[in-house]
Amino acid sequence: MFTLNINIAEFLETYWQKKPVVIKNAFKDFVDPISAEEIAGLSLEEMIDSRFVSNKDSQWTAQHGPFEESFFDDLPETHCQLIVQACNHWHSETAQLIEPFKQLPQWLFDDVMVCYSAPHGGVGPHIDQYDVFIIQGQGKREWKVGAKDIGQYQEIIQGGALRQIEGFDSIIDEILQPGDMLYIPPGFPHEGTTLEASLSYSLGYRSPTEQELLSHFADHLIAHDIGNTHMHDPALPAQTQHGQVGTQSLNVLKQMLRKALEDDDVIDRFIATQLSQSRHQMNIIEAEPEYSLEEIDQLLMQNTVWEKVAGLKTLYLSENSEQLFVNGECFDIDSKDKQIISLLCDQESFSSDDIHRELQPKTRHTLMTLINLGYWYVA
Ligand code: SIN
Ligand code: CO
Repeated sequence: MFTLNINIAEFLETYWQKKPVVIKNAFKDFVDPISAEEIAGLSLEEMIDSRFVSNKDSQWTAQHGPFEESFFDDLPETHCQLIVQACNHWHSETAQLIEPFKQLPQWLFDDVMVCYSAPHGGVGPHIDQYDVFIIQGQGKREWKVGAKDIGQYQEIIQGGALRQIEGFDSIIDEILQPGDMLYIPPGFPHEGTTLEASLSYSLGYRSPTEQELLSHFADHLIAHDIGNTHMHDPALPAQTQHGQVGTQSLNVLKQMLRKALEDDDVIDRFIATQLSQSRHQMNIIEAEPEYSLEEIDQLLMQNTVWEKVAGLKTLYLSENSEQLFVNGECFDIDSKDKQIISLLCDQESFSSDDIHRELQPKTRHTLMTLINLGYWYVA
């Protein structure tokens, strides 16, 4: 269990998306939840994103996993870093690191990335479009952070794949020791240099751009066959200048675009499905054989614990909602059973005893679907 020595409400008010900060001793007596060997083990797996970055002799190189076991036989002792994404999906002790941050929206949360860095290892100066908390585990790293990017930094690609910037003047320059934490809002350049072999944990929160929202919204319209209507302008007047787009036609086209963005139900549903999509693979195992409704009823009658698969994004839009959004899909709950949405979305697990009432057929059917998809499993 990890205890964070900060007040999240005060942190949000002073720092969130405003300025970077180092919080010394954010975790008292911090004990690493994972070892360097276990991280190397995860990087062998096909479903897990990993990278190995080296800056030996000032030559940047980046290799992507999955790696062969032999890759780790004779690694250099300095100037390298192994990065594994979404360790919280595969390693339950690492997932415990998320608990102290539960007052931040889980629908913005992406993953816990774990870095093992040898002395002098790092990924160079760069800018992320993420809010990130970097927790220092074992070892020591020096972190520098620069002023927010307003176009003053020159981006370069190193080693074919590493997005870096040429450099920056520091507004923060501190050595992080076990239990210290650095928060960096999107757009602030930063660089970590390793002083002593280190483990660090980056909790990333998405910060969607307008471009992303609009382009995914267009995908959503196509996928759901919404707005497949052609321009309709039966009152088209004769033109004297055939190269000009007439005001009336321009207005018809603008109206078509606005109409797509005016339907709140469509937009709400799009946003919720979008935000409930995980960016990283999860350890989802579909039920085999599938549960029948009768078996679900039996589980509900016993004191069964329903565990959510690690990293699954589950959310709802309002207290009165009869829908929940899971892994990019919408599921319906009977209006009489609304209270179950909070059990499913706000908690990592719940017990059948928490439900207190007999569920309606529609809700039981949804529970059956969720468990057959492998999104929840019986502990
Ligand atoms: C690192 O630990 O060097 C990479 C983490 C980051 O900069 O976001
Ligand atoms: Co970064």
